[in-house]
Amino acid sequence: MQSRLQELKQAAMSRLGEISDTQQLQELRVKYLGKKGELTEILRGMGSLSAEERPVVGQLVNEVRGELEAAIAAKQTALNQAAVEAKLAAESLDVTLPGRPLPSGTMHPLSRIIEQAEDIFIGLGFEVAEGPEVELDHFNFEMLNLPKDHPARDMQDSFYITEEILLRTQTSPVQARTMLRKEGKTPVKIICPGKVYRRDDDDATHSHQFTQIEGLVVDRGIRMSDLKGTLLTFARQMFGEDQQIRLRPSFFPFTEPSVEVDIQCIFCGGDGCRTCKQTGWIEILGAGMVHPRVLEMGGYDPREVSGFAFGMGVERIAMLKYGIEDIRHFYTNDVRFLRQFNRV
Ligand code: DAH
Repeated sequence: MQSRLQELKQAAMSRLGEISDTQQLQELRVKYLGKKGELTEILRGMGSLSAEERPVVGQLVNEVRGELEAAIAAKQTALNQAAVEAKLAAESLDVTLPGRPLPSGTMHPLSRIIEQAEDIFIGLGFEVAEGPEVELDHFNFEMLNLPKDHPARDMQDSFYITEEILLRTQTSPVQARTMLRKEGKTPVKIICPGKVYRRDDDDATHSHQFTQIEGLVVDRGIRMSDLKGTLLTFARQMFGEDQQIRLRPSFFPFTEPSVEVDIQCIFCGGDGCRTCKQTGWIEILGAGMVHPRVLEMGGYDPREVSGFAFGMGVERIAMLKYGIEDIRHFYTNDVRFLRQFNRV
């Protein structure tokens, strides 16, 4: 009996040495220590032993069981450890390997102009405002002093969604929205860059969707000279320190008086060329003193405050600044075009 126990222990231990996974270890445990296992069987057979032998064998069985249990537990720990190490080795990452280069894009020329304009106007104390592209007729026209029968409201010019909702045709509705948001407080000093939409046939200088930057200042004592100084500063920072601007009388329903603003032709320096049609000047934006009706509708008393506003086309400025001849380049997204703005 005792030698059988010794053999059993030997066999179990040597098998244990060969085992390489948890499944096999579990089988071994069942084979020797399980309910129907070999040790249990020996215990069952103890009935046939003499009274002197029984306690001796019993103790030996317990010893062997203890040793086997300990050996199996140690093996389990070793297997677990090995599994963790194998996983770590499989998932190891060599951080010293050179990376795979990702092609990086370039900033779109329109975004560049918007960013530059924002920098300029923020430097002058303006805030950047936003408004919805899907706009109410009320804000796009009515609040800007464009009554229902105004020719600029012709259905041909706008993308209407319902009778009252359209894609904004200009960023000017943000003027009205901002005044209402400010609830009569001064100063108002915002610019709003954004997309606008018009029912135009696309060609080299027209697009059904383009970009504008709106500006609005409302405060006590705002005068035309403030408008002129602001726009001159903008023109000089955008196009060069020796830029000149010229104001020509014009008409917009939301400003009175209204002006169109030219910069000196950046191609010929004012001498006259094809681009400026020999005039030496190029128009870049519309502007004016905010119409008293627009101030009133925005919740301001035109006897106490005054303001100026302006609206410029971003594509036009980008075309002048970068010498781009066709507005369609901005949205056809040819990478050969876009890559040229890598280092501008
Ligand atoms: N909204 C005008 C347009 O789309 C541009 C404009 C002109 C905006 C004069 C203004 C302004 O704020 O005062 O043609």
